[in-house]
Amino acid sequence: MTVPHHSGEDATAAIEAYGLTKSYGKPAVRVLDGIDLRIARGGVFSLLGPNGAGKTTTVRILATLTEADSGTARVAGYDVVADRSAVRRSISLTGQFAAVDEVQTGEENLRMMARLTGASRSAARRRADELLERFDLTAAARRPAATYSGGMRRRLDLAAGLVGSPEPGVFFLDEPTTGLDPRSRQQLWEVVRDLAGRGATVLLTTQYLEEADRLADRIALLNKGRIAAEGTAAELKARVGGHRLDLVLTSRAAYLRLAGRALHHSPGTLTLGIPTDGSAAQVRALLDEIDPTGEAVERFTVHGATLDDVFLALTSEASAHV
Ligand SMILES: Nc1ncnc2c1ncn2[C@@H]1O[C@H](COP(=O)(O)OP(=O)(O)OP(=O)(O)O)[C@@H](O)[C@H]1O
Ligand SMILES: [Mg+2]
Repeated sequence: MTVPHHSGEDATAAIEAYGLTKSYGKPAVRVLDGIDLRIARGGVFSLLGPNGAGKTTTVRILATLTEADSGTARVAGYDVVADRSAVRRSISLTGQFAAVDEVQTGEENLRMMARLTGASRSAARRRADELLERFDLTAAARRPAATYSGGMRRRLDLAAGLVGSPEPGVFFLDEPTTGLDPRSRQQLWEVVRDLAGRGATVLLTTQYLEEADRLADRIALLNKGRIAAEGTAAELKARVGGHRLDLVLTSRAAYLRLAGRALHHSPGTLTLGIPTDGSAAQVRALLDEIDPTGEAVERFTVHGATLDDVFLALTSEASAHV
């Protein structure tokens, strides 16, 4: 394997990975089966995929917590194996490096961490105040971290990752909003947007497709250890036609006959969703083809595709035709 020469690297990329593979266990189960990624500097990149797809494994390799079996990766220009400590100085990983002490207050935690990075007492105090303000934790600053809600705790984790100065350029957030209520989730989205707005690169994994749709500049869909698709949310939606034709069928027999063509299945309401470009010509042709005698379909609606449609299409067993 050739080691990429430093001057030959792509200076505009925050993260580059080539052919990452990883297997676990005996007999070995291949978890990553050749991952290539190129993530430009600045902005939010989201890694989506079903449970067990390999998202956390990918993040751990890029954040130098695990080594790939083969392949290479550079983060902030540094090789994740050869320049591990330089990578660690350039990144923040939520909830991992930030060892928040539950007994101490948010303020005490941040001041102590700032002191550990070498800041003077007054500089540490200033930095802590600044971060508490920025992460909307000023009101809770003097309470023990143990009393924080899930959302506050995650914001404190993120703040802890920013204590050092200069701030890291690359953030790995592995499911930062899982389990948060809608308001806390939105607060975290604001934090992520703010980081990206300051020029940072954020690699975010999420189970919430709507979150990727709203936050991410680009999205990679990971399925069974491979990148199944990559692009903007709009590009990914276009891959499933951009629209969805929902058919409400007249009978269970009609439903079962047509179920194989659909991506979305709601047996309770006898509704099937079929990808389409949304044009009248295609919808008319589809209806004629599916229901030539006009007996199977009771009603239909056409609406814009969501990332759910993309996710289902590209991660289903029968995805080869998409
Ligand atoms: N240390 C390990 N030892 C053995 N198997 C592992 C280990 N870490 C991960 N795996 C397996 O690798 C596969 C991918 O796991 P990974 O955590 O990367 O998935 P994920 O996409 O993050 O899933 P989730 O959405 O559930 O977080 C899973 O089948 C998991 O059981
Ligand atoms: Mg995971």
